[in-house]
Amino acid sequence: MAEIDLFEAMRTCRTVRRLRPDPVPDALLHRVLTAATWAPSGGNRQPWRFLVVRDPGRKRQLQELYLPLWQRFSEAYGARMLALAPEARAQTERMLRAADHLAHHFHEAPVVLVVCVHVPDLAITDAGLDRPPVVGGASIYPAVQNLVLACRAVGLGAALTTLLCMKEPEVSALLGIPKSWATCAHLPIGFPRGKGHGPLVRKPVEKVTYLDQWERPLFAP
Ligand SMILES: Cc1cc2nc3c(=O)[nH]c(=O)nc-3n(C[C@H](O)[C@H](O)[C@H](O)COP(=O)(O)O)c2cc1C
Repeated sequence: MAEIDLFEAMRTCRTVRRLRPDPVPDALLHRVLTAATWAPSGGNRQPWRFLVVRDPGRKRQLQELYLPLWQRFSEAYGARMLALAPEARAQTERMLRAADHLAHHFHEAPVVLVVCVHVPDLAITDAGLDRPPVVGGASIYPAVQNLVLACRAVGLGAALTTLLCMKEPEVSALLGIPKSWATCAHLPIGFPRGKGHGPLVRKPVEKVTYLDQWERPLFAP
């Protein structure tokens, strides 16, 4: 397979929610998981474990936990969508359709990857502030993004999901995950059904970058 430029991979690294059931060879999984382990982490503690779920019964149980969470979440989304401009609404509707497909077919992905982090090893430097801490995630989600980009590079589709984290006790019991490990993401992975990857829709950099002071633009619009 031809190598892909890093910027091109990032620009087209869509969430791929429609996957073929064809198996993902171990060698390919090894390659993308190796890329995940190249990620940085606080103190280089590398507090991750990657649990590859291939067993049909376990994948089915994950899907049965996921579907009602998605249905509740999508109802709330539907209400918010009414306020959107037509183009944004059409995009959101496409995303919701794809996400709904994923929720019904979660277990058909050849691999569901459960990403776990060892909580005692997290460097949570913002734990004392008057808001929920966010820094701990920086020791695990770069690994997830490395993995997703590596999937893009080798032609695999992946969908980063976090809804199932709400059901951590059930997921941990199902997969034998010890108490000190948190579940951070569940990624159905497989070869895309159809095109899969493609250009992303994002806010322009001009809108989200400031110089020296909040809301003072660095780049002209
Ligand atoms: C932290 C996080 C959690 C997400 N959780 C879910 C999820 O539970 N289910 C889902 O279908 N997509 C999930 N997504 C995918 C986002 O919906 C997706 O990244 C976003 O709509 C942008 O679409 P794109 O990645 O195709 O550009 C999640 C993404 C992130 C970064």
